[in-house]
Amino acid sequence: MTDERSATGRTPISHPPTERRAIGAAPQPGDQQVDHALRPRSLHEMIGQARLRDKMQILVEAARQRGDAIDHVLLYGPPGLGKTTLSHILAYEMGANLKVTAGPAIEKAGDLAAILTNLRKGDVLFIDEIHRLGRAVEEILYPAMEDFSLNIVVGSGPGARNIQLKLPKFTVVGATTRLALMTSPLRARFGVVERFDFYEPDAIQEIVTRAARLLETPIEMEGAWAIARRSRGTPRVALRLLRRLRDYAQVRAHGVVTGAVANEALSLLEIDELGLDDLDRRVLDAIIVKFNGGPVGLETLAASISEEPDTIMDVVEPYLLQLGFLDRTPRGRVATRAAYAHMQIDYPERPEQGGLFG
Ligand SMILES: Nc1ncnc2c1ncn2[C@@H]1O[C@H](COP(=O)(O)OP(=O)(O)OP(=O)(O)O)[C@@H](O)[C@H]1O
Ligand SMILES: [Mg+2]
Repeated sequence: MTDERSATGRTPISHPPTERRAIGAAPQPGDQQVDHALRPRSLHEMIGQARLRDKMQILVEAARQRGDAIDHVLLYGPPGLGKTTLSHILAYEMGANLKVTAGPAIEKAGDLAAILTNLRKGDVLFIDEIHRLGRAVEEILYPAMEDFSLNIVVGSGPGARNIQLKLPKFTVVGATTRLALMTSPLRARFGVVERFDFYEPDAIQEIVTRAARLLETPIEMEGAWAIARRSRGTPRVALRLLRRLRDYAQVRAHGVVTGAVANEALSLLEIDELGLDDLDRRVLDAIIVKFNGGPVGLETLAASISEEPDTIMDVVEPYLLQLGFLDRTPRGRVATRAAYAHMQIDYPERPEQGGLFG
């Protein structure tokens, strides 16, 4: 049994409001219901991320053999790759209770103390957006994670007393898209720190095929492949595209998502063959045309296309970096030769930047 309600009763997990793109990696209304139904429950059901899955398997098995809780686990990486999913899986594999909360939901040290004192032995406490915990809250978390002790002040003024409570042994699973924003003392409390990589298209194709089966949507291999190639290596994006294509197929093509149907629908959504959409292209276009290929700072770039810097940093950049379309230099973002080629703009030969692109 897992308890998925927010441990504090509040979970305002915020994502940039500008992001309503079919290929946006941040969760959108409508995703959630499907997310839930399609979420793999066990490590065995999880597709892709083989390296990570192997490590988790060992972690879980070793802890089970010892009859112990697993070490604290920190998961980081771009949105939509499965951090939340894996936290659920870890609890499931351990047969443990899952409590869910998020950095912004824990406002005061007392909020966290309340969560901690309600934990039972072996529970998994999932803290999403863990980089957004406040300083005072973090300080309660340090000894709780390290020695399973809770130090609280009771009363106030001269009568105030420090008391130390012993907590049952539990596991924190933290997730963040911004490892760099986490304080190093907090990071140091995690015995296991793991990164999620973008998925290979093969893995995404398998995820899409599995989801289509669960959604009872007939899909051909070519259809699943068309989605896989355009999903930016991100399961959340793939599942959302699948839903859009299912609608399209239902209305226009007797319900079957064939390769041809997929391609038609995807071009209607203005998603190109690499999975870039209008926002990605606007970013590339701005760097190349407005800023002569860069370098340009994040804030300036964002302002030039009226977007939030966070949106660009979280959802546009990681994939463009992965494609090798962007370089991050100390002076800002630079468009690479590959980006010019994709945008069909002639690459200006600039000797001073030649070294960057090999
Ligand atoms: N390995 C996988 N196999 C199948 N489906 C997956 C896998 N990983 C993730 N998914 C699906 O992708 C969706 C997004 O996953 P999840 O919510 O865990 O991402 P996240 O990394 O927590 O994102 P965020 O950073 O936005 O919180 C879910 O619907 C989940 O079912
Ligand atoms: Mg998540």
